[in-house]
Amino acid sequence: MMHNFNAGPSVLPIEVFQKASEAVLNFHNSGLSILEIGHRTSLFEEVMYEARNLVKELMLLDDDHEVLFLHGGATTQFMQVPMNLLSENEVAAYTETGTWAEKAIKEAKLFGHVEIVGSSKETNYTSIPKNISVPATASYLHITTNETIAGTQWHQLPYDCGVPLVADMSSDILSRTLNFNQFDLIYAGAQKNMGAAGVNLVVVNKNILGKVNRKIPTILDYRNHIKEESMLNTPPVFAVYVAMLTLRWLKGQGGVAAIEEINNKKAELLYSTLEKIPFINLPVAKEDRSKMNVVFTMKNEKLEKEFLQLCNDHQMYGVKGHRSVGGFRISLYNALSLNSVWAFTDLMKHFAKTHG
Ligand SMILES: Cc1ncc(COP(=O)(O)O)c(C=O)c1O
Repeated sequence: MMHNFNAGPSVLPIEVFQKASEAVLNFHNSGLSILEIGHRTSLFEEVMYEARNLVKELMLLDDDHEVLFLHGGATTQFMQVPMNLLSENEVAAYTETGTWAEKAIKEAKLFGHVEIVGSSKETNYTSIPKNISVPATASYLHITTNETIAGTQWHQLPYDCGVPLVADMSSDILSRTLNFNQFDLIYAGAQKNMGAAGVNLVVVNKNILGKVNRKIPTILDYRNHIKEESMLNTPPVFAVYVAMLTLRWLKGQGGVAAIEEINNKKAELLYSTLEKIPFINLPVAKEDRSKMNVVFTMKNEKLEKEFLQLCNDHQMYGVKGHRSVGGFRISLYNALSLNSVWAFTDLMKHFAKTHG
C-alpha cells in the first residue's frame, strides 16, 4: 500500500477519487462527462451550491461571511487581497513567518505600505512571533496560519488584533476548529486539505469590501464574485466538484472537530516518536510546531539518504523536505490515515534501532 505524505497536491480520500472518476465518464447518469457539461446547467449549479453550503456548515459561518471558489491558486490571493483591501496611502500589517508570508508581503507592497509587525526570519522561521502589536490604523493584519515549508503553525490566533484579520490557510484549512467568523478574509488553495489543484476557497466578510480608493479589474473584485455566486466566468468545474466531494467526505467524518481529533493523534504520534530518536533534529519551537507539516533533519546526510531509500522501498511517498530546508517533511493532511502514520513511525523506529 502506498502512503502519501506529499505536501501538496496531496492525498485525498479514496471515495473522492472513485466518485470523481465516475463523474468524468458519466456525470449523474446524464450520459455526459463532468468535463463537457456547461457550468450554467442545473447539474453543475447544484455542485457549486452544495460546495458553498458545505463550507458554511463546516466552518459555522454567519451571514456576513461569503464563500467563493476562485481561480488562480493562493498565489493570486497574495495580490487580490491587497488590491481589494489596501489603499495606496495606507498601511497593512503583515507577519513574516516563512516563504509563503514573504511572498504575500512582496505582493502587498505593490498596492500600499506594509508594516511587518512580527517576524521570525532571524531564527530561520523556526517559531511564530508572539505578542504582536498592530497599529489601530492598519487596513488589516495578515497571517499565514500554517507555514507549509517551515513547519510552523499559529496555535494562539490574534483574534484581538483590533483590525480586520486576513489569513492564508492554504495548508491547514478545515483541519482544526477555529472561530472562522473572527476572520474577515480567509483564503486557501484547495490542493492540500480540500481537493485538487485549480481552485481557491475564499471566505470573506462582505462588510470589509468596497473601501479602497482604486479601480479594481472586474475579475479581481471580490464583490463581483459574490454577486455572481462564483460564476462570474467559467469556474474550474472539475476542481470545484472534487472540492465538493472532499467537503462531503469531511462532513461524513463528523466535521472539523472530528477530523481535528484524528489530526491531533497523528501529530502526537509522529512528534513523540521523532523526539525519542537521538539523531533526529526537530528545528521548530515545540509550541509552534505544525500539525500538518512535520519537518526534521538527521545528524548527517548519509543517514538521511539511507532513510529516504528505505521510505522509497516501503512505498512512503513525498517525505523529502523542501529544497530550501532539506531533511524531511511529513504532511499529515486530513485525508492521511492514522494507519499511514503508524506505518511511518514503525519504519522510523526500526531504522533508529539499526542505526542507533
Ligand atoms: C501556505 C501556502 N500559501 C500559498 C501557497 C501557494 O499556493 P498556490 O500554489 O495554490 O498558488 C502554498 C502552496 O503550497 C502554501 O503552502
